[in-house]
Amino acid sequence: RGSKLWGGRFVGDTDPIMEKFNASIAYDKRMWDADIRGSKAYAKALEKAKLVTAEEKDKILHGMDQIHDEWAKGVFDVKPGDEDIHTANERRLKELIGEPAGKLHTGRSRNDQVVTDMRLWLRDAISILKGNALQLITTMVERAAIDVLFPGYTHMQRAQPIRWSHWILSHAVALSRDVEQLQEISRRVNVLPLGSGAILRNIGINRLSLHCPTHALSLSLARWLHPPLPLSAEFLFWASLCLTHLSKMAEDLMLYSTKEFSFLTLSDAYSTGSSLMPQKKNADSLELIRSKAGRVFGRCAGFLMTLKGLPSTYNKDLQEDKEAMFDCYDTVHAVLQVTTGVMSTLKINPSVMEAALSPDMLATDLAYYLVRKGVPFRDAHGISGKAVFLAESKSIPLNQLTVEDLRTASPLFSSDVSAVWDYSSSVEQYSAPGGTAKSSVAAQVEHMRTWLKKQ
Ligand code: ARG
Repeated sequence: RGSKLWGGRFVGDTDPIMEKFNASIAYDKRMWDADIRGSKAYAKALEKAKLVTAEEKDKILHGMDQIHDEWAKGVFDVKPGDEDIHTANERRLKELIGEPAGKLHTGRSRNDQVVTDMRLWLRDAISILKGNALQLITTMVERAAIDVLFPGYTHMQRAQPIRWSHWILSHAVALSRDVEQLQEISRRVNVLPLGSGAILRNIGINRLSLHCPTHALSLSLARWLHPPLPLSAEFLFWASLCLTHLSKMAEDLMLYSTKEFSFLTLSDAYSTGSSLMPQKKNADSLELIRSKAGRVFGRCAGFLMTLKGLPSTYNKDLQEDKEAMFDCYDTVHAVLQVTTGVMSTLKINPSVMEAALSPDMLATDLAYYLVRKGVPFRDAHGISGKAVFLAESKSIPLNQLTVEDLRTASPLFSSDVSAVWDYSSSVEQYSAPGGTAKSSVAAQVEHMRTWLKKQ
């Protein structure tokens, strides 16, 4: 207890099981670099506030650099009493430089220290994830280059012909929103809480005087410890949403790469086999991308349960935030990279895609044909539906109905109806921004390229 940062008022020893239960060093040591960066900035602020001398500050900075070296080389020795990364680094500083180490914590609590560490760590993590996401979007935009039509589905039933590029861009756009949202979070991460102490803003430390690598932007929350709630929880929400997008995309890809569909062939690099059935080639990469969303939601929901009903300010419950944050980061980091690999190696089978189109997917166009002749859409929909029924009862494709057949549904049909049965001209009707016409898709590709350049 003598060596504990808080040991002064204690006479009894901590129970060994409690000691382990209480400790977070096993996982928060990941923030060793951020913890050192924060402490170095804090030492400089202490000097400005005349709470340490220039000489003491230099000793602290030098000691911190040595500790940095030890962590970087993997030789930092975590001792049994090191409760968390903050305790471990301070303990080591004392061993290295002696007394001025004890002055570093003046006006600081581990509460504002841990929030600072998490912010610095998350800022780097966000920048890596942003890079991963941009890589994936770039790959998807490249894969939009093949111009081929294939069936668009709703309810997993054949709906209308669309471009392959239209499908892939729909997912790229969703991801670009994720990147924008990540940027927003990054802006909020860049707020420095150090010097807030546990509950009050602390003795003579102006947060702006901290020459910290992070931008100390907002002082509006300076009076109270800025809890890690909005930040780490927000990151978990973000991870959940991003993986929702990717899990949906993975599901489509899985379906399209089955033998039955064969629109796509997944590369060997992202498939696995069966130990029993020699012919099997399973889309494990896609299944794992899909499943990781569940893992991340669980982390997010779990942490929200921890937060619910907590009293104001710091409570040890908040220590639970780090494992959730690290795990979500690791998961999203891996998923984005694997998805990029899957996307860049995917074989697209244009002839199979085109052969999968069928005339019934033009039933909406048949209704539009009548709309152009003045029929209200609701009626035109009914007439086209009758034609679909007629073709089905004759067991022939919709475009094989004769004009006479069609006239039993509406006298407005004439020989020019044959123009409806053309997939290319069908998709060309949808030339509004965001549509599936060639010009619209080209504009979206251009838009995405410009967007990528700005990131
Ligand atoms: N390991 C702790 C955490 O992650 C650090 C803060 C401890 N603060 C305290 N007052 N016990 O939350």
